[in-house]
Amino acid sequence: MTTSQARPSRSRRVIQWGTGNAGRPALRAIVRHPDLELVGVHAHAPEKIGRDAAELCGLDAPTGVLATDDVDALLGLDADCVSYMVQGETRIRETIDELSRALAAGKNVVNTSLVFLVYPPSMPAALREPLDAACAEGGSTLFTSGLDPGWSGDVLPLAVACACETVDSIRVTEMMDYSTYEDPGFTGLFFGYGRPLSFEAPLFSPGAIAGGWGGMVHLVADALGWHVEELREEHERLPAPETFETAMGTIERGTCAGVRFELQGLIGGEPAVTAAHVNRLRADIGPDWPSLSGERSGYRIEVEGSPSYTCEIEPRGEHGDHNEAGILGTAARVINAIPAVCDAAPGLVTPLDLPIFTGPGRPR
Ligand SMILES: NC(=O)c1ccc[n+]([C@@H]2O[C@H](COP(=O)([O-])OP(=O)(O)OC[C@H]3O[C@@H](n4cnc5c(N)ncnc54)[C@H](OP(=O)(O)O)[C@@H]3O)[C@@H](O)[C@H]2O)c1
Repeated sequence: MTTSQARPSRSRRVIQWGTGNAGRPALRAIVRHPDLELVGVHAHAPEKIGRDAAELCGLDAPTGVLATDDVDALLGLDADCVSYMVQGETRIRETIDELSRALAAGKNVVNTSLVFLVYPPSMPAALREPLDAACAEGGSTLFTSGLDPGWSGDVLPLAVACACETVDSIRVTEMMDYSTYEDPGFTGLFFGYGRPLSFEAPLFSPGAIAGGWGGMVHLVADALGWHVEELREEHERLPAPETFETAMGTIERGTCAGVRFELQGLIGGEPAVTAAHVNRLRADIGPDWPSLSGERSGYRIEVEGSPSYTCEIEPRGEHGDHNEAGILGTAARVINAIPAVCDAAPGLVTPLDLPIFTGPGRPR
């Protein structure tokens, strides 16, 4: 088995760009990682500028690395990799420009922003070409992932399919209760939680689900040697039976409290690869919708073939919460990729281009 787990001869020098939901656990992971060294931090909010990275991510011991918004100074640092976790979906053009700037400056980039980047071969050329050109200019590599889209819908089902003689279809469903997910500003608005069911939530505008999850569907199909002929989007929302409080905000009675959607990659009119979501804000919303056993939150991976497999994955954070685990897992998925991405050939890479890698084992 080829893995990237052999310890590198020197630490990789990393700049963390973004100190939000994903950026904070990423900072902690970089500081604690035995093979990584934090050399720079970019922050946007004026109150974060000049503060030590440790303070921004809840670590006690100062790192000596102070947050800055000076991009030229950051990209002028001697660094192997930028870990980019800025809010991307509300600023697509700026994000492509910032990623391109880092890549052209010769920095490899691991990234969670702009989820359609998880599989660059399926991206529109107009968005991919500046990134390709920047990689060529800088001799650098870009890898984008997360938990979903990302890990749950690419390496996990493909790992399961490794033990099939033949595969007929793959379906991955995220079934996460989002009531503890502190992201009302983006996910809350994007999914339309707490808004009337008639609200034109951005997620349900035609093409938006395909934009977010199409990469995942195409990646899995390509790995299986399939050509997806058509993408089909479905969605459904359910109202709150009464008013209740969540980390997504107050959900008034009758407003959106549950979202179910899926993207089917069709071959011969049949779903071959499906990326699905069931995101309730309370366990009793949508009793007819799919659930994990025991009403847990996580992912169900269904590989139909010979043989067939069904797996349930339940992420749990340090305090038992699945949303805390989800955001930490998103950060860890790309931070752990840094050595492999630094060693990869220049260009836009996917999990299909990288060896197996894991988080570092705790010293025992
Ligand atoms: N695939 C997955 O599983 C997955 C999971 C979670 C997130 N994501 C993606 O990862 C990215 C980061 O997510 P997140 O939850 O960490 O986002 P977030 O907390 O909402 O925002 C991240 C950071 O973006 C910066 N920012 C916000 N508006 C900005 C602006 N106008 N100009 C410059 N910087 C700005 C802020 O930096 P400061 O704090 O320094 O001001 C903020 O901390 C998003 O694109 C998200 O979609 C993917």
